[in-house]
Amino acid sequence: MYSEQFQESLKAVEAARDANTVLEPRRMTADEKDALLAKYHPDYKKEEFEDLKVGPNKGEPVPKELAATLQAHSRIKADDVDLEHPDFDVDVLIIGGGGAGCSAAIEADEAGARVMIATKLRMGDANTMMAEGGIQAADKENDSPAIHFVDAYGGGHFAAKKELLKKLVCDAPDCIQWLNDLGVEFDKDENGVMITTHGGGTSRKRMHAAKDYSGAEIMRTLRDEVLNREIPVIDFTAALELILDDKGNCAGAVLVNLETNQLYVVRSKTVILATGGAGRMHYQGFPTSNHYGATADGLVLGYRAGAKLLYADTLQYHPTGAAFPEQIFGALVTEKVRSLGAKLVNAKGEVFMHPLETRDVAAASIIRECTDRDNGVETGKGLGVWLDTPMIEKIGGKGTIEARIPAMYRMFAKYGIDMRKEPILVFPTLHYQNGGLDINVDGETTNISNLFAAGEVVGGIHGRNRLMGNSLLDVVVFGRNAGRNAAAKAKDVTVGKLTLAHLDRFEEELKDAGVETTMTSPKLLPKYTKDFKYICSNMEVQ
Ligand code: FUM
Repeated sequence: MYSEQFQESLKAVEAARDANTVLEPRRMTADEKDALLAKYHPDYKKEEFEDLKVGPNKGEPVPKELAATLQAHSRIKADDVDLEHPDFDVDVLIIGGGGAGCSAAIEADEAGARVMIATKLRMGDANTMMAEGGIQAADKENDSPAIHFVDAYGGGHFAAKKELLKKLVCDAPDCIQWLNDLGVEFDKDENGVMITTHGGGTSRKRMHAAKDYSGAEIMRTLRDEVLNREIPVIDFTAALELILDDKGNCAGAVLVNLETNQLYVVRSKTVILATGGAGRMHYQGFPTSNHYGATADGLVLGYRAGAKLLYADTLQYHPTGAAFPEQIFGALVTEKVRSLGAKLVNAKGEVFMHPLETRDVAAASIIRECTDRDNGVETGKGLGVWLDTPMIEKIGGKGTIEARIPAMYRMFAKYGIDMRKEPILVFPTLHYQNGGLDINVDGETTNISNLFAAGEVVGGIHGRNRLMGNSLLDVVVFGRNAGRNAAAKAKDVTVGKLTLAHLDRFEEELKDAGVETTMTSPKLLPKYTKDFKYICSNMEVQ
């Protein structure tokens, strides 16, 4: 079943394992990192980006696929919608039922607001659910929010909006306590103290986890809380457009029931976009670790209504997507595997980098190994490098893999791969949208009143690269924050006359800019037709 090169390479890795386990590779210098990223990281491939021709970020580059969807036609015409007779009238409409949406709903409900969640799949069908490795918070004696800030600010290339990052790290310990009190089963030692580990780019062990299904455990708890509070949720119902009022403030949304195609008008004093990420856009043909619904919808809704984007040209390619077997191509292999001691090893059995470099640097190193250095392993579906998982048990002892990363163990075991005994193959996978809607510290978008945003749809919290575990943190911190502030603001809002006039204005802009397209957006769901191709280390994969 395995090619000769594959088997030879496997032997080389096994032969070098004892020496490689104790090897302490040095970290790259700042200059080395800059040179590596410029040459190998997908964000730096200028030809894959296009300047926007319309909207608040006109003239700025975004991935070509995103430009096309941002500059597409609306799926509806203003005249098709009866704005005079809203189907729902609430204080806070939350679009998205993942970690950020549910956290927002809980806090808005707690504040006494009339809340409603609309989600295009089911509550919990979201990237939060797929998150594995953990959630950061500086709550140990040798750590502090200031140290957490320095790690994340540096890891994000000093580009994060400081006030947002400050809020993220300062609210983190309270957020862990809140989740714990709601019922999240964090890993704890025999004294009840939370177990914490390192992630890439962290200077302290501050990753709290529920084994390697941290996101699923957090999502389970948040979903239960939403249900217990009897917060109304309409599922399989996607947002097609935001509604403004005659004062230019956000005042609701047009939704569509995906089963019946029925349109609903929701009038709302405030709206929170919590639509998540964009992995299913498959930028540059990359596979993705993301949930099926991650199609950049919130960026489209916000942008067409006039909301600004920040850093929409920066994506995160998780260094360790599964490269083999093909059934799990692109699925997340949690960074926790490296936190526990597994190193990245090339086809010759050489450790080629420190295993806990930041994600952009790690992804670029793997791509360099597979392209210019010709050190990749042919997987039958492209190239990959080894993640030498048996090292984990050499360091942590027998049983560590099943105890600490049981979901990973099961994922590979299903295909006959015992990661306790043999290494696994990995290659970068599209994982996270670093950029998104520009918000202030209250979670409100910077240029549309009464429109809030939380979670992966937001840009600027992490700068141009996010550290592991700061996304689960961000959905909870900024979800709660948006919920509280949207509920408070709703108390003083009087909604004016509802309008979709911005759709016609956007159409005019497209025409004036000479944008010709037959595409409509938001995308809502990805399409995997026969001719869909992935790119894996520059090789097309059917
Ligand atoms: O590797 C991981 O477990 C992913 C975590 C994250 O994106 O924060």
